[in-house]
Parts: sequence; C-alpha cells; structure tokens
Amino acid sequence: MRDLFDRFYENKGPVGKWAAHAEGYFVFPKLEGPISNRMYFMGKEVITWSVNDYLGLANHPEIRKVDAEAAAEYGSAYPMGARMMSGHTDLHEELERELAAFVNKESAYLLNFGYQGILSTIDTLVGKNDIIVYDVDAHACIIDGVRLHMGKRFTYKHNDIESLEKNLQRATKVAAQTGGGILVISEGVFGMRGEQGKLKEIAALKEKYNFRFLVDDAHGFGTLGKNGAGAGIEQGIQDDIDVYFATFAKSMASTGAFIAADKEIIDYLRYNMRSQMFAKSLQMQLVKGALKRLDMLKNRPEFKAKLWENVNALQNGLKEYGFDIGNTQSCVTPVYLKGSIPEAMALVKDLRENYGIFCSIVVYPVIPKGLILLRLIPTASHTLEDVKETLEAFASIREKLENGTYKRISEAILSAVK
Ligand SMILES: Cc1ncc(COP(=O)(O)O)c(C=O)c1O
Repeated sequence: MRDLFDRFYENKGPVGKWAAHAEGYFVFPKLEGPISNRMYFMGKEVITWSVNDYLGLANHPEIRKVDAEAAAEYGSAYPMGARMMSGHTDLHEELERELAAFVNKESAYLLNFGYQGILSTIDTLVGKNDIIVYDVDAHACIIDGVRLHMGKRFTYKHNDIESLEKNLQRATKVAAQTGGGILVISEGVFGMRGEQGKLKEIAALKEKYNFRFLVDDAHGFGTLGKNGAGAGIEQGIQDDIDVYFATFAKSMASTGAFIAADKEIIDYLRYNMRSQMFAKSLQMQLVKGALKRLDMLKNRPEFKAKLWENVNALQNGLKEYGFDIGNTQSCVTPVYLKGSIPEAMALVKDLRENYGIFCSIVVYPVIPKGLILLRLIPTASHTLEDVKETLEAFASIREKLENGTYKRISEAILSAVK
C-alpha cells in the first residue's frame, strides 16, 4: 500500500517543481522594512509594486497610533470565543453599523478572514436544491466555497454575459425540478487582470431571471465608487447586489472582512454561518483599527485621489510605451509579455537586482503557456518618480526579452531544472 505522503516526494505540483530555483526569490520572498513604495528585498531597496496597500494606509502614522493604542489596551486576545458565545462587543456592532452605512446596505457582519468568510458565506447561502452560477475566473476562495455546495453549479465564461445568460437558463430549468433558487457570483474587480465584473449587465438580467447576486469586491472596496465604497456604487447598481463582500486585507491594510446585505439576510447568516459560529471573534485591535481606517476612507479623499493619480500615470505611461496592459478597469495593472517560464525568471531577477523593481510575476498554469504577466499594484504611497523609473526599466527589460538576452540566461536555468 502506498504511503499517503509518497506523492509529495514524487511530484511537488506545478509551482512546487520550481522550488529549488524559486524559493525565497520568486515564491516566499521576504520584503522588509515599513510597508511603503520602497521596501527592502535581500538587503537592497526596491520600488514595491506587489503590495495591495492601495490607499497607503498600512504605515500611516495615525493608523499606526490607533493600532498600537488598541493593542496596548486590549492585547491580542480580547474578546475570547465566537461572537455567538462570548466574543461579542459594542465595538464589533459599531463597526458593522458603520460598514453597512458606508456601502449602502441595511446591515453588515464581520468576518475573521476574507477567504474563509466568503467560503462560508456561499456555504450558508445555498442548500442542496439551489444552483450556483459563477464566473470561471473567480478567486480561489469562491471556487472553494462552491466546492462545499452539494447541489448543481455552472460556470460562465469570464465576464461574458451571453454565456451567463445561457447558464442562467440551464440553472432555471434545474431549479424548476429541484424547487431551489439561484445564486450568481462575480467579483467587483478581478484581481489578476484588473477588469471590473460586469455588475451592471448582470444586475440587468434580474428582470428576466430570478436569482440572487453575491459580489466579492476585495479589490474594488476603497478604490472604486464614492469614497471607495466599491464597484457596485461605481457602476450604480449597489441595490441589486444582494450580498456584498469586501476584505480588510487590501485598501484597509489590515486583517478581517465583512459582508453586507438586508438585515434579514445578515441575521440569517449570523445564526448559521459556520466560519463565524465556530471560530474566535475578530480581535479588538483589528476592530478598532478598522473603525479608524473606515473613518479615513470617508473623510480623507486625498488618499484615493493620489492612488488614482499614480494609477493613471502608470497605466497611461505603459500604454504610451507600447505595452499590452490588457483590459484593466481598476488599479490592478497587468503587463503582458511573451516568453517562457525560465525567461520570465531571468527577467524578474534582472528587474529586481539591476533596476530595483519588485513586482509579482504570474506564469502558466495561472495564465496560458508562453505568456508572462507582470502584475503591478500602484498605491497612494508611490510617487510619480517611482512611475517614471519603472517605465524606463520596463522599456529596457522588454528590449532584452526581445533580443534574446533572457533566453540565453534561461537556458542555463532550464538545463539545471531538468
Ligand atoms: C478577490 C478576493 N477575495 C477574497 C480574498 C481573501 O481575502 P483575505 O486575504 O482577507 O482572506 C482575496 C485575497 O486576499 C481576494 O483577492
């Protein structure tokens, strides 16, 4: 009989197979120093384009002060236990009221983490007779939530309303047989490539089909809509989103998340959502920190304005230099280049070591073979000088990619991997 662990030695998986060459550099890199536009990687200062601190709040002195005071006052334990049992406080309720009002919903509920939170939200919203219809490019947490579902699920082609409609027709037929309902799930902003979900078009389908709409707005919250209230507000259809989700892990520069919906729906979720019923409440320093951050979003529009100044400078600059940045409609800035994985590794190494630029790299199997995606996340803490330096560096590395410099370097890497 095989030992359970045998296959871990034989096959480390599509990313794991590169571990010997990638660990500590391409994967599990250590970015050091205060979170900002420039951090340290292997002792060298780099312009950091891979941190989702969109509004530059992570290291803002007022935020740091509130975080530190809350930690001093409450420690990291309080409150202990799940919300339902012993982990409930006035401040949790206050934050929920503030969040609900901010995103124009009746009620909100805090989640300990975005990932588990949305997974459990999906699990709670549907029963075995219900049908889920979701965008094929959905984030892993949505896919894992759908995996828990015992009933039927259909994917529609990414942001393709015709495909969604076909699947809604299939789902409607199934629902007639099972007596269930339909949940449609999209993201507000797709975090890899930056397109906004077609929330308005999806919402318009409610006139023809009976479904409820869940939106994961991890990247839209704080960056889109009035004061950063999100993609639903930006597209003018917040009322058609039945359950709105956002995480604190990006614009809020913290940990935790929330869902917002009609009061009856939130009440149901509060009493039935396993990730919150059977897990410790969000600790107080995070709750107090989130109240402060939300206050900054509401009352300090300069952070979002600066963010968008940088986004526009970076995205327009890349286009002027002739780079393919796909169809982004958000701060997420993808740059598509053609090349193999080893070429991508050589290119990123050059960017980091010789140009002082740190960005994330995405390759097959996340995107098609032969493409390299460099993903840049502009924030309010970047400067126009950072943008200029980056554009010049990108022009230079593209030339090297095209003249075969990285191919030559990569051949050495490739022979070592084989
Ligand atoms: C679209 C999306 N949803 C959910 C999450 C998970 O959020 P968290 O980091 O709070 O677990 C992420 C990543 O952080 C995300 O990009």
